[in-house]
Amino acid sequence: LLLINGEPATTIDATDRGLQYGDGLFETCAIWNGRPQQWQQHFHRLTLGCKRLGIPLPDGTLLYQEAMQLCHAVSRGVLKIVVTRGGGGRGYRPPAQPAPNRLLQSLPWPDYPASYRQRGIRARLCATPVGQSPALAGLKSLNRLEQVLARAEWSDPEIAEGLMLDPAGHPVEGTMSNLFVVIDGCLRTPDLSRGGVAGIMRQLIIEMAATLAIECRVDTLTLEDLWSADGLFFCNSLIGLWPVRELAGQAMDPEAIPRRLIESLTNQLEYL
Ligand SMILES: Cc1ncc(COP(=O)(O)O)c(C=O)c1O
Repeated sequence: LLLINGEPATTIDATDRGLQYGDGLFETCAIWNGRPQQWQQHFHRLTLGCKRLGIPLPDGTLLYQEAMQLCHAVSRGVLKIVVTRGGGGRGYRPPAQPAPNRLLQSLPWPDYPASYRQRGIRARLCATPVGQSPALAGLKSLNRLEQVLARAEWSDPEIAEGLMLDPAGHPVEGTMSNLFVVIDGCLRTPDLSRGGVAGIMRQLIIEMAATLAIECRVDTLTLEDLWSADGLFFCNSLIGLWPVRELAGQAMDPEAIPRRLIESLTNQLEYL
């Protein structure tokens, strides 16, 4: 099911700048019991993104109404929201008065094996780097070609996620998730001021760690930090948290993640 600017539709204008230039943003949220989950947080990131790109923000109440229209009959699924600058302008130059397009789509819940969360995943190191792009860092912009290239690197269904490094070789994030490292019961997660998507789940985990008095530092990590860590995990809004049991052929301890963090997260997020 697809709503474009509030109307059921299947097509979008070929001049749309989202298609022409990736000129837009998106959000992917879980739907649970007829409601989009972490709505405030997703709308907040969309707001920041629209501000940075100079795209007029869709009205929050209207967007929520449209989201509810798609979600109300869904017990478990995915809501994808795309906001583009719309058509027009001359070449790259954005139109002075953009008429943004908003697409809302309800999608089936991805059926990842329950073992991923319970026993951990196997992950690989991607050869495709995450570019340094301070202007776009943190945003969930439509420019996702690096992730497309990285995800095309493997087809082994046993490998659930790939770790992406910046051009200097520092771990940044997964192809579709953020990364945390556990060292001596403390958390560390890469700084995203030059690249990567500032995930909703990442932020939730940072805040939850503070509540649980688990130290969590946001800084630059090296691959050596990862190899010597007690454990690693990936997170996003749909998967929650996946412990890593193997990275690039090296065994990791999926049990190293603080139990109370996992319990807190599963208590707070009913859909997990
Ligand atoms: C590249 C990338 N990084 C991080 C994330 C995690 O974001 P969130 O926690 O908001 O789902 C995603 C989500 O799909 C992603 O595609």
